[in-house]
Amino acid sequence: MNSRRLCALVCWYLLILCSPLEAAEESPVNLAPNISAGKYLFQAAGGCSCHTDTKNNSAFLAGGRPIETPFGTFYGTNITPDPETGIGNWSDEDFIRAMTQGLSPEGNHYFPVFPYTSFQRISRKDLLALKAYLFSLPPVRQKNLPHDLILPFGEQYAMMFWKNFVWSPEPFISNPERTESWNRGEYLAQALAHCGECHTPRNLLGALKPEMHFAGSKEGPEGELAPNITPDKETGIGSWNKVDISYFLQNGMKPDGDDVQGLMGEVIELGYQHLLEEDLDALAEYLLSLTPISNELRPDSAENSETEEY
Ligand code: HEC
Repeated sequence: MNSRRLCALVCWYLLILCSPLEAAEESPVNLAPNISAGKYLFQAAGGCSCHTDTKNNSAFLAGGRPIETPFGTFYGTNITPDPETGIGNWSDEDFIRAMTQGLSPEGNHYFPVFPYTSFQRISRKDLLALKAYLFSLPPVRQKNLPHDLILPFGEQYAMMFWKNFVWSPEPFISNPERTESWNRGEYLAQALAHCGECHTPRNLLGALKPEMHFAGSKEGPEGELAPNITPDKETGIGSWNKVDISYFLQNGMKPDGDDVQGLMGEVIELGYQHLLEEDLDALAEYLLSLTPISNELRPDSAENSETEEY
């Protein structure tokens, strides 16, 4: 048999093998969330790097990773499907409540270091796919560590106050005046990839300052400075073009040749680098469309310019 014939035969065989699967996936009756879609969403969310204690070679997503914040030290929790120490007993509704309202199945309020403030914008369909992916992973038995917080942060009454009076959740609503790809970019940035959780400064009560959207924060998680990523020419990324941004989110390389460091490196490595070209472009389109905000941030506070410090 010549190679063309062999190839045709193999293709035909593969077609038969794959078609019932495809039909099942596309069938409107079968809306079961799909694991590979969930894996992609997980990566778009930055690979949930806070839940793996990579430094101590701990098991994937089994928690225990310390995260320093001005409110104390948090320990990422076990989000493997272990029924006792992880989230294996959670129903779909438990998962959705945790991700959108910051409430545990027992009714405890989570501190917003768990970025449910962004995740609440993720669609229900995407949340269920994300859960399906997490539940497809190996369960790991590892007890959660108690957070080490400065009082009264983390106290339940304080969290209730915070949620009722400080936090004003906004659902994701697509903007019909913008392109489809811009809306996709906004959804990725604001909901899944939660860029603002690090790049938007917080007020004293820990709420993101809406007027400083993406303008950089001196006190990101782990005390890291998260730069201004609005398109301001002087203090932001106004001199970057679309390709610079998508290349950076894929490889962690800045236009000036510098390599990314710290938490941004982690979310790129474990997550964003896996994004499809069109999603990276959408993110870049969205970032470059933001209102430029002048906010000079330098690691050493003594060097800060006149602009207000965050
Ligand atoms: C977990 C916190 C965190 C998240 C989430 C995060 N970043 Fe970052 N980002 C940082 C930190 C910290 C730096 C500084 C790293 C460095 O300069 O090496 C940074 C650097 C950057 C830079 C380089 C800016 C410059 O001037 O050098 C860009 C661009 C950027 N982030 C875009 C994004 C986008 C877009 C998202 C969402 C898709 C995002 N980041 C999500 C923490 C974060």
